[in-house]
Amino acid sequence: MPHMISSDRAVIEWRNESTQKPPKAALYLHEAGAERILKSAYEQTATVWTGDFHNAKQVLSALKKRVRKPSGKKKTADVQDMQTAFHSHRIRQAQQSRVLNMLAVEIGAGFVLDMPRAPDVSAALADVYGEANHEPFLLPLNQLLGFIGAHEWHKKGIALPQLGGRIHVPFGVFSPIRGEYLDLLAAAPLPPSATGIEGTAFDIGTGSGVIAALLAKRGVPRIVATDTNPRAVAAARANFTRLGCADKVDLQTADLFPEGCADLIVCNPPWLPAKPTSDVETALYDPDSAMLRGFLNGVRSHLKPNGEAWLVISDLAEHLSLRESGFLARCLQTALLEVVDVLQTKPQHAKAFDGNDPLAFARSRETTFLYRLKAAD
Ligand SMILES: C[S@@+](CC[C@H](N)C(=O)[O-])C[C@H]1O[C@@H](n2cnc3c(N)ncnc32)[C@H](O)[C@@H]1O
Repeated sequence: MPHMISSDRAVIEWRNESTQKPPKAALYLHEAGAERILKSAYEQTATVWTGDFHNAKQVLSALKKRVRKPSGKKKTADVQDMQTAFHSHRIRQAQQSRVLNMLAVEIGAGFVLDMPRAPDVSAALADVYGEANHEPFLLPLNQLLGFIGAHEWHKKGIALPQLGGRIHVPFGVFSPIRGEYLDLLAAAPLPPSATGIEGTAFDIGTGSGVIAALLAKRGVPRIVATDTNPRAVAAARANFTRLGCADKVDLQTADLFPEGCADLIVCNPPWLPAKPTSDVETALYDPDSAMLRGFLNGVRSHLKPNGEAWLVISDLAEHLSLRESGFLARCLQTALLEVVDVLQTKPQHAKAFDGNDPLAFARSRETTFLYRLKAAD
């Protein structure tokens, strides 16, 4: 159901990818300073910018500086209570994003942005929404800029040495840009039956399709890849075609497992047990560890004799005190699974070394694991 809001011009649709409540009203202004936009934002009124596009971007930067001022809290407090630090960090991010999203633009029919010096945004918006709109709608400028950036990445793709190719990831799909887990997947020894003539693997929560493509490259003749996110399924399909492995992969929109059994079942679930605040975040946050537990509890009955399950997960949740350190071991015991081997690596992405990141203490300790599991006797 579209969110309709009143503006000083007409009742108009408000689009926002997050679960944030829409503003109560919108006010069209040719141009305005950060102060004025903030004042309206605190009164739940969005400002719709109709003036110069580049000036709008500058005002958005000024707004970001204003709302992202460091809280001034000492880092040691965060270290003492990482769980509180994590939740406060997310609440702060949500509050900031809600304020920033109060600076909006009107997108006309056919995804046209009719403002002085505005770029052509139609391809970027078509990438996110599919079919072009007939009615105008309001969109936060910050989101529009995010869509434009995501569209550029989607076109360009990410070169992955483990694949010997590029993966193209649209907005709303998990990006393997932090690719160290792919090194683990490229190095782990495949169960011999997986590359046999009847060899089959499942890739549960395929996202961009990167793991399924990697398994195909490693010689698994048949792979079934599942995901619940329609954007992921479409992205994976396009990637399999580009990479020339579409004939080996059966892609299904499914909750966790497809029918049947496999020699190898791989899953890289979202790593943090927390509530997503947008569809995009469903690839990062797994409320109550539901996907993780669903995968572990169900995998045994989908494994062929001597088959293996590979779980890719980091211990960031433990460093943030979102999970107890014995949680995974207990899940494995409940699911009657046994560890064959554990491969591990340290993250190499910039955030892990960014001292200004409020979660730096936990991130700097993070390790990414690939658990090779089998059915316990
Ligand atoms: C962390 S991402 C991993 C994506 C990809 N496998 C990779 O490694 O880059 C987790 C994926 O699981 C999907 N997912 C979440 N819950 C799911 C479920 N119940 N069944 C299938 N897929 C699910 C999400 O849509 C997301 O694409």
